[in-house]
Formats: sequence, C-alpha cells, structure tokens
Amino acid sequence: MNEKLNFIPNDLVCLKDYERYAKKIMDLNSLAYVCSGAGDEVTFRRNEEAFSNIFLETNTLEDLKGANTKIELFGQTYETPIFLAPVAYQKLVDVNGEIATAQAANAMNTCMCVSSFSSCTLEDISSYTNSPLWFQLYIQPDMNMNLELIKKAETLGFKALVITIDAPISGLRNTEQKAEFCLPQGVSAINIENLNPTQMTNNFENILDITKILPTWKDIEFIKKNTKLPVILKGITSVSYAKKAIELELDAIVVSNHAGRTLDTLPASIEILPKIAKAVNGKIPILFDGGIKRGTDIIKAIAMGASAVMIGRPIMYGLATAGALGVAHTLKILKEELEVSMIFTGCKDIEQIKEIELIFNNNYQLH
Ligand SMILES: Cc1cc2nc3c(=O)[nH]c(=O)nc-3n(C[C@H](O)[C@H](O)[C@H](O)COP(=O)(O)O)c2cc1C
Repeated sequence: MNEKLNFIPNDLVCLKDYERYAKKIMDLNSLAYVCSGAGDEVTFRRNEEAFSNIFLETNTLEDLKGANTKIELFGQTYETPIFLAPVAYQKLVDVNGEIATAQAANAMNTCMCVSSFSSCTLEDISSYTNSPLWFQLYIQPDMNMNLELIKKAETLGFKALVITIDAPISGLRNTEQKAEFCLPQGVSAINIENLNPTQMTNNFENILDITKILPTWKDIEFIKKNTKLPVILKGITSVSYAKKAIELELDAIVVSNHAGRTLDTLPASIEILPKIAKAVNGKIPILFDGGIKRGTDIIKAIAMGASAVMIGRPIMYGLATAGALGVAHTLKILKEELEVSMIFTGCKDIEQIKEIELIFNNNYQLH
C-alpha cells in the first residue's frame, strides 16, 4: 500500500491517473466498497465504456468571446455543470471525509450533494464551504426522521433535496461480499439514528419481508408537500418514471444507475439519457451521472439532454489519493477538460453544447 500524497506529482493529470493512484493507497475493505458493482458488474463497466462509442466533431472558427461554463438551476447560478454526487462514508478513504470534499468544493466553487449516509455531520460539512450544498435522502421508514433531516438541511442553507429512489435495498455486490466489507470503527452514517437495516446489510431472514417498509410514490408526494426545497428524484432509468416525476411536479431528475451498484445489466446511463430527454422535452432539468471521466464525456451528456453532470467514484479516488487537494484537483482537471473541449467543438456556453451533433459508432444502438 502506498502513502497518501500531499502534493500532485507530474504523472497525475487525468481522472484515470487518480483511479490508478487511489487503488494503490486504499485498503482492501474500502477498495471493495468503492470499486464494486452489482452482480457481474456489467453496468458498472458499461457506464464508462459507452462513452467511447460516441464521437464529436470540431468547429474551430466560431466566435467564442465571453465563453463560460455557467448554468442556472432553480433560480441559482452554478459556475460549472460539474457537481459532486452523493457518496456515502467518505471517511473510509480520508480521515476528514466529507469535510475534505466540502473544502475542495469550496475551493473550486462547485456544488456538493451530501449523502444521507455521510460520515461527517451536516453541520460540520456545511461550515466548510460557501459553495451550494444539496442534501441527498434515502427515505427511512420513520417519516418523522426524514422530515427532521430535511428541516435540518433547510436550516443549514442546503439548496435542494435529492431523493434517491434506485437503492431501496443494497445491491448484491459480490466483490464486497467476498471481501467481507464492513464499516470500520469511527465510520458511520452519523446523521441518522437507527439506520434502516435494508440499506446496511441483506440480513433479513426472508428478503421479501423488507417490502413492508420500502418507500413508494406516496412518500415522494408527501415529502414534496413538506419541504420548501426543490425536490430532485435521483436514479431514474426509465421514461415512465421520468414522466411520473413531471406529473408530481418534482423539480428535476437525475438519470443514474447508481454507478452500476444496485441492479446489474441496466444499460449504461448515457445509453438511456436520449430517450428520457426526449420524453421530458425540457419540462424539468435532467442531471446525469455514471462513468464521467473526461471533459468530452460531459460534452456528450449535455449534448444528449443533461443540464449538468455529477461525479461519484472520482471523488473517492481524489480523496483517497490526496484528501481535499485530490478532490479539488480532480474538479480542476474536469473543468479544464470541459473548457478545452468547448473550444474545439465551438461552444461558447452550455446552451450551445446542447446543439452539438454527435456521431455514433455504426454498430452502436442507443436505447
Ligand atoms: C462508493 C459509492 C457510494 C455511493 N453512495 C451514494 C449515496 O450515499 N447516495 C446516493 O444517492 N448515491 C450514492 N452513490 C451513487 C453516486 O451518487 C452516483 O450516482 C454514481 O457514483 C455516479 O457514477 P460514477 O461513480 O461513475 O461517477 C454512491 C456511489 C459510490 C461509488
């Protein structure tokens, strides 16, 4: 195992370098948690691979003066369309956990979405950044507890509520099972008392007993009525759920398959984005995550209908490699890659990226 870095070496220039470094620094327990996908990890691999079947074209004589990467969501301006996805238990890879990520978000003026399974308190995290924070909720069986958490996020100035719907139970991640993954002492979902066991382990005698306490659309409707925050539904992989989100007047959706960690053999996130974007037809913003490693991936996701993208595993690789510095550098790399790609593709701003013509591999069928 290598030591965590306190500087950025010359051979650390892209997100894949971070992954390589991080894998030599993380212990086997954390590695099994962060680097695993469900089942045969088909979706996990495909999320990233799918981007290499989509191609760009150059437009290099456009007038790009005044170029910028700003976007607007729910009346708030965000400096870049690159957000930090909710990722649980960040203390697994860095003693400062989510606080370090918040510091990086602050340094890079980036929106961070804090997991309800974060290993630092919401109070602490919010005191380390001036950049916008969103709060992600896994709905717990005790609705009062959900409302208390949401109220706390509202009081602390969080700007949006993200409800994750694609992980009602933990996915079957064989890599984790084989490594006998467990949370080490000092790492816990500190913001939640009596954590819902469905999301901790699969230790119900009869798995289907869990269904008695799983959330449904009624809970989403109830929460929407009981918060002032914009409500974003995360984990949309179908047109029908996107339409339902619009029907319930939710404020946005995140097209995501949870990094391939829940149900295996879902298509890559980018493969399902176009048909969802077509159905949504601009009625609400679409955020996107899954496999983003390059600025060109961000261009492709926006060209296919996303308003902004989120990164998940790359946060953990940045944190594991060099703490807050690593996450800030990861964000800087992605932002610069996006800006370079905008110049090559002739896009002055994010709106223009939406007009880009993409080229698809002949043998490649989009869903
Ligand atoms: C280790 C790990 C923990 C995660 N924890 C959460 C979580 O607590 N809440 C959530 O909504 N999504 C969680 N996700 C999913 C991410 O928010 C995001 O959807 C996904 O990581 C994006 O794909 P990427 O890792 O390829 O960027 C987690 C993902 C990973 C890899």
